[in-house]
Amino acid sequence: MRTQVGIVGAGPAGLMLAHLLHRSGIESVVIEARSRRYVQERVRAGVLEQGTVDLMTATGVGERLKREGLVHRGIELRFARRSHRIDLSELTGGAAITIYGQNEVIKDLTDARIAAGAPIYFESEGVTVHGFDGAEPAIRFTSGGAKHEVRCDFIAGCDGFHGVCRPSIPAGALTIYERVYPFAWLGILAAVAPSSDELIYSRHERGFALHSMRSPELTRLYLQCAPDGKLDDWPDERIWGELDRRFEIDGGWTLRRGPITQKGITEMRSFVAEPMQCGRMFLAGDAAHIVPPTGAKGLNLAIADVRVLARALAEFFSSGDRVMLDGYSQTCLRRVWKVQRFSWWMTSILHRLDGENAFDARRQMAELDYVTGSRAAAQSLAENYVGLPMES
Ligand code: FAD
Ligand code: PHB
Repeated sequence: MRTQVGIVGAGPAGLMLAHLLHRSGIESVVIEARSRRYVQERVRAGVLEQGTVDLMTATGVGERLKREGLVHRGIELRFARRSHRIDLSELTGGAAITIYGQNEVIKDLTDARIAAGAPIYFESEGVTVHGFDGAEPAIRFTSGGAKHEVRCDFIAGCDGFHGVCRPSIPAGALTIYERVYPFAWLGILAAVAPSSDELIYSRHERGFALHSMRSPELTRLYLQCAPDGKLDDWPDERIWGELDRRFEIDGGWTLRRGPITQKGITEMRSFVAEPMQCGRMFLAGDAAHIVPPTGAKGLNLAIADVRVLARALAEFFSSGDRVMLDGYSQTCLRRVWKVQRFSWWMTSILHRLDGENAFDARRQMAELDYVTGSRAAAQSLAENYVGLPMES
């Protein structure tokens, strides 16, 4: 098989890249390790920045998003038993976020790919990447019992944090910047109407808690837990009890309970691999960087990367000019590091730090007091939360 761009991974990065390339008349083949059903049912991100929504809408995959997405114009911060609203729209000149599950984004992009009759291989085994340091890159894999080789001009490594593309780059060609946090998130999906119209980020002495949602009938909740926590340690009753305590405010507030339909533990990490390219292979999304989920940025950052990459590839295939491709990593990393900063900051002000000394706890409260009391500070949170401009 021969194509222009071989894409490893059918997450948000791989599928959006394939979609943008298709619209520019560039051929690609998408190779995914998991089944279509698995990637469409995996519960992950839920917050789309304005820029992500605009891109989906402008490229013809925003119809269901427009119908079913929940537009939010503010978020709530809770601490010291009080609740404070950050008015995102008022502080940013009208921007908003949209609640729409990552799995729904995946469904819309997969449907578009299949409707276009463009190649996508699910359940691909033994995926390996070759020759990206020369002029003839190739991807090899097994699918449906048959061995395949895709020869291409470029490889896009969109295979997430545990994929094969980044580890295939020779040692020494990448510099890794990393921070692993001493806590994790226990996330649940509950079949019950959300208890608030907006997201609630709560800082509590017992640890962080987040109230989010997927639809008017589905609530998504997270609790800070130990990094080595096991799901067995968390029977439903313990989860609800802990959530009740962490969301408590003066004047009272009730968290609605319902059947828990999904539970999972997510580790928290900040990670950047530089540069995001090696020869004819480009890394995008979680393959190149990870942010802790407190800023709701991972999916949005993946989309921002492939937008830059799609433009650079379109420029190359139309004019032979490599300038944008050569600058891909540099263009993306400026934004990546700002988003890293914001995600780290949100994480650091809202979580209980183990062995926390009294100074740090007081400083954390002062940060929250400042951000909810100063328009300038609230505006800084808001402009980052709704999303920085796509290419800055
Ligand atoms: P992925 O979604 O990981 O996709 C990579 C794909 O490559 C996968 O389908 C994988 O199966 C495939 N793959 C892996 N290895 C191979 C291989 N060897 N060969 C072929 N295919 C392979 N982000 C937000 O923006 N907002 C949020 O609210 C948010 N909440 C989150 C909550 C949780 C619990 C988690 C876990 C993450 C959250 N994120 C959030 C982060 C977000 O989900 C990721 O940043 C996003 O999925 C990155 O997209 P991606 O396409 O780069 O990688
Ligand atoms: C989610 O709805 O899954 C979600 C929302 C906000 C975050 C992280 C996850 O910061």
